[in-house]
Amino acid sequence: MLVVFDEMLLLWLALASNILNKGYKMSVSIKTESELECMRRSGQMAADVLEMIAPYVVPGVTTEELNERCHDYIVNTQKAVPAPLNYHGFPKSICTSVNHVVCHGIPGPKVLKDGDIINIDVTVLHDDFHGDTSKMFVVGSVGAQVKRLIRVTQEAMYTGINMVKPGVRLGDIGAAIQRYVEKNRFSVVREYCGHGIGRVFHEPEIQVLHYGRPGTGLELEAGMTLTIEPMVNAGKRHVKLLDDDWTVITKDRSLSAQWEHTLAVTDTGYEIFTLRPDESLDHIASF
Ligand code: MF3
Ligand code: CO
Ligand code: CO
Repeated sequence: MLVVFDEMLLLWLALASNILNKGYKMSVSIKTESELECMRRSGQMAADVLEMIAPYVVPGVTTEELNERCHDYIVNTQKAVPAPLNYHGFPKSICTSVNHVVCHGIPGPKVLKDGDIINIDVTVLHDDFHGDTSKMFVVGSVGAQVKRLIRVTQEAMYTGINMVKPGVRLGDIGAAIQRYVEKNRFSVVREYCGHGIGRVFHEPEIQVLHYGRPGTGLELEAGMTLTIEPMVNAGKRHVKLLDDDWTVITKDRSLSAQWEHTLAVTDTGYEIFTLRPDESLDHIASF
């Protein structure tokens, strides 16, 4: 997910990139039908990776083995590119965030054990377009409160997704996600957000904060493509970046969960590009 820029920095960035590109106005990319077709394809590929890896997320596996399986599948079967690899120096092909790791966990020798929870975040680059999606897995069996954290986080994502249509503002979506999470006595991470996506992995013109105020922020238009990817903590919302400069953990070491989809704004609502067959239809009612 995109690091939340402070507003002035974002303004300067937008200004600078637009001086170099097409005038001074901040421009959000609107995809053409043929670009959307490419995104459909990369999104489906990213979703397929999460399906493929599911049976391997069991006690005893290392996060490095999960990384290798995903890498091989993306490169050799899908003939695509794992976008995280070497992205701003990220050393692996997927992110694996276990237990109190909020996001950007680096696969390595860590062995998964019964009762762990893990987010696997996959971004596939194919035919110049990105598809970005993540989901939670439980390793062996977990308690009822842990299941509730995972379920509330998934529902928070769908709460945001279900609001997507032209005219809705990003603040409306952030506020709805925040309200749903806090009503359930969990907290929303604020330092990382969803993002515009397309030829560029993280298009900075769209930042989908998972908290906010209704009636504020960018107004959605058909043809915009973005991710919604709330990170929800069982304890307090505060996070800490580890010395590896990637791994984000909860400050209080409470468990954290995250789910992510890539979608497009359509004339009537939205289209999820990274949908899996295991997802129920009441979540995709709006198109
Ligand atoms: N896939 C993450 C996202 O949802 C970003 C990972 S960037 C990496 O935006 F470098 F950590 F891989
Ligand atoms: Co993302
Ligand atoms: Co992601």
